[in-house]
Amino acid sequence: MKLLFIILFFSSLSFSAEGNFNCGTIECDSFSADTTDLASLQSGLTTYMNNCYGCHSLKYSRYNRVAKDLEIPIEIYQENLIFDGSKPGELMNISLNEKDAVEWIGAKPPDLTLEARIRKPEWIYTYLRTYYPDASRPYGVNNKVYQNVSMPNVLEDLQLNLSAAEFDKVIYDLTNFLVYVADPSANERKRIGVYVLLFLLLFTSFAYLTYREFKKELK
Ligand code: HEC
Repeated sequence: MKLLFIILFFSSLSFSAEGNFNCGTIECDSFSADTTDLASLQSGLTTYMNNCYGCHSLKYSRYNRVAKDLEIPIEIYQENLIFDGSKPGELMNISLNEKDAVEWIGAKPPDLTLEARIRKPEWIYTYLRTYYPDASRPYGVNNKVYQNVSMPNVLEDLQLNLSAAEFDKVIYDLTNFLVYVADPSANERKRIGVYVLLFLLLFTSFAYLTYREFKKELK
């Protein structure tokens, strides 16, 4: 029994030691999403379609839903952001098939539609900005948040050509877009929520006035 307590005590210690870092080997950088900023979402979508979509599908969303929410005319969307002739109403599930992915990269790139809910935006934002050179890895890079990750540093050229602040903004927009895509009706829900509360307020005041009228008659 004593031994069990000792083991539990030490395992809880090691647990809390690891828990000091919520982003792998480091602390996550803070991130505050703004999914009402359409310019940011549009920039994030563009970065995503050009650099990520070849490997990572967004299979729970449709091209035309994203175009509508981000207020991009569908013709412009189709001309510039759909590369394989998919129809606007289709699901965004074009990406590497599993066999090729495992053969070429050694791992299957997961679908990222719900990534911002699974991993949290802070995690994604920090992860994409913390690749570093490591000659022992297949692509010559490693990552502080996701140690020994199989994904290459796909934005390396961009990172080299931009200032640190500009690159942070690109990743901010990309992460912001992933937050939107993980819960595309969040803004609509908040908007309707305000009306519901206003209605309840109005309804309550009318109910109260009616109650007062009835009370008068009862006297
Ligand atoms: C060449 C294919 C490829 C491209 C392009 C690519 N990724 Fe990845 N990505 C992967 C693979 C493979 C993994 C799985 C890594 C592993 O299991 O070690 C991954 C993992 C991830 C993860 C972590 C998933 C998790 O929760 O475990 C995120 C987030 C991610 N990628 C985002 C992106 C973004 C954003 C882009 C575009 C800037 C991108 N990826 C471009 C192949 C790719």
